[in-house]
Amino acid sequence: MHNFIQTFFMAPLHSRRGFIVSSAKAGLGIYLGSALLQSCSSARKVVSSKYTTGFQQQPLPYGYNALNEAIDAQTMEIHYSKHAAGYATNLNDAAKAEGVDTSKPLEEVLNRVSKYSAKMRNNAGGHYNHELFWKCMSPNNQAQPTGQLVTAITSSFGSFDAFKTQFSDAGKARFGSGWAWLIVDNDKRLRISSTPNQDNPLMNVAEVKGFPLLGLDVWEHAYYLRYQNKRADYINNWWKVVNWNYISDRYQSVL
Ligand SMILES: [Fe+2]
Repeated sequence: MHNFIQTFFMAPLHSRRGFIVSSAKAGLGIYLGSALLQSCSSARKVVSSKYTTGFQQQPLPYGYNALNEAIDAQTMEIHYSKHAAGYATNLNDAAKAEGVDTSKPLEEVLNRVSKYSAKMRNNAGGHYNHELFWKCMSPNNQAQPTGQLVTAITSSFGSFDAFKTQFSDAGKARFGSGWAWLIVDNDKRLRISSTPNQDNPLMNVAEVKGFPLLGLDVWEHAYYLRYQNKRADYINNWWKVVNWNYISDRYQSVL
């Protein structure tokens, strides 16, 4: 820096003026370049305008006993009407206390969840995750997706079975409570991830970020009545009720 100052003041006046103008141009160039990069970076972020989530719990899209092949009716009833309902109630309490506009999509809170309380993080995540979870299941299903999603899964993971194994392993390996995810990341690649507690890949605190296509709840409250400590059996059976049509639509919405 010392040499730079010496050179500047020893140069003739017209050279100094030229230097100031070119430096200003260079500075502007750097600023514009940086702004463009930021803009490109945010433009790459995968956002679905079709699938946004509100702050209120939506009706379960089937009866409590509809998924009995994989999840018993009592588990579904307690899960939906107690656990998930509790997250929605606590989310709305936190939103009121922290001045969050509940007419806007919940995704706006999740994207900057680190700015809010732990109560907000746990319950915004809990509400979003369960609203997605119910829709990711259905009593009438194909064994696997079709179209662009199955093509993308095959090219990303090797085969549909290899994907199922990797996803199942993410759920089995999650220590304590949490979720396994299939997401589209910001480079539009399919990825499998896992989050602890009620975190999810939309959160700015998530290790792996992206738009969730499929989420699997591996909290004990999701399976303990029928499967006790056998989380692996729950996961193996859960594939029978996965709603691939819905998950394919979510994928299409971000392509
Ligand atoms: Fe749950």
